[in-house]
Amino acid sequence: MIDFNGQVAVVTGAGRGLGRLYAIELANRGAAVVVNDLGSSMHGEGTDGAVADRVVEEIERSGGRAVASYDSVDSPEGGQAIVDTAVETFGRLDAVVSNAGIFNSIPFDELSVENWHRMLAVHLNGGFYLSQPAFKVMKAQQDGGRFVFISSSAGIFGQPLEAHYAAAKTGLMGLANVIAIEGEEHGIFANTVLPTGFSRMVTETVGDEKFLSESGFMRAIRPELVVPLVVFLASRTCEFTHRNYSACAGRFARVFIGLGRGWLADADSDPTCDDLAEHLGEASEIEPFIVPASIFDEVLEVCDRRGISAMPGGAEIAIPEAAQ
Ligand code: NAI
Repeated sequence: MIDFNGQVAVVTGAGRGLGRLYAIELANRGAAVVVNDLGSSMHGEGTDGAVADRVVEEIERSGGRAVASYDSVDSPEGGQAIVDTAVETFGRLDAVVSNAGIFNSIPFDELSVENWHRMLAVHLNGGFYLSQPAFKVMKAQQDGGRFVFISSSAGIFGQPLEAHYAAAKTGLMGLANVIAIEGEEHGIFANTVLPTGFSRMVTETVGDEKFLSESGFMRAIRPELVVPLVVFLASRTCEFTHRNYSACAGRFARVFIGLGRGWLADADSDPTCDDLAEHLGEASEIEPFIVPASIFDEVLEVCDRRGISAMPGGAEIAIPEAAQ
């Protein structure tokens, strides 16, 4: 059984929806949990401390340990304060679930600069503001750690009216990629989750009561079905890093970025756009492919096929140990 006794977890946006369920399950499995929630509306307006308090009470009533945090993830001070709450209250930090989020739908040609910045401030900047101080604590503990960034299929696959949200959520994958590479030598792992779960983000966005109550899909996306994935990735049982997984209606699947083999133009040739157009089929093939563990895998693959060395004098490419 996956056990969190002696471990401390932070879950942001843990007062409602999916985050609340992650926090409760982590606490049920022995983690001391920082229940962070600003208590805002789905659009990010207002604050309400009672939202986090209620989840703390719920955890404590079942015999678990938790503390409320009302800081917003959207500032460096907020991120630091959340991490400080973990360390000052429970003495350490083992796992971070970066989950707090807001949502709204706007056609791309009507998206204001303010809306763009607001969305990135909570999701992407918030992920950074939280994870950097947390990373420093984990590194200093010399005992590893786990990051779970809540991304979205709306980002990596795309969703209409969500340019700002999609960009922010996919940005978190880039952040997780590098935390994974730099953290690996310290036993600090970072993975992302693309959840689908029935919450106010779904009900307020869909609106149509009949659809919400009668759609088989709506009934199938019970938010509880995302919890096993997030909790597994937050645990020490998870021994991999740098991956993305989707959880939707009880289907758990890896999401990966593949690099196709592509078209290799003749060495020393200067292919024109006409040449490329001629070989577009080959350049666009999605099989075979590799899943690069870092940028170096792409460099090495091209070098290998070109029969060249990345380093002067044929020396081995100096890949940082953590990125291999
Ligand atoms: P929710 O709206 O029920 O919960 C989000 C929580 O985050 C709220 O309690 C809110 O007060 C809190 N929050 C908002 N801004 C905050 C801030 N600046 N600092 C601290 N807390 C803040 O939404 P839900 O559905 O539970 O979503 C959780 C996460 O999962 C979000 O990041 C969302 O984008 C993501 N997600 C959800 C999907 C779904 O199907 N529900 C699909 C894909 C991604």
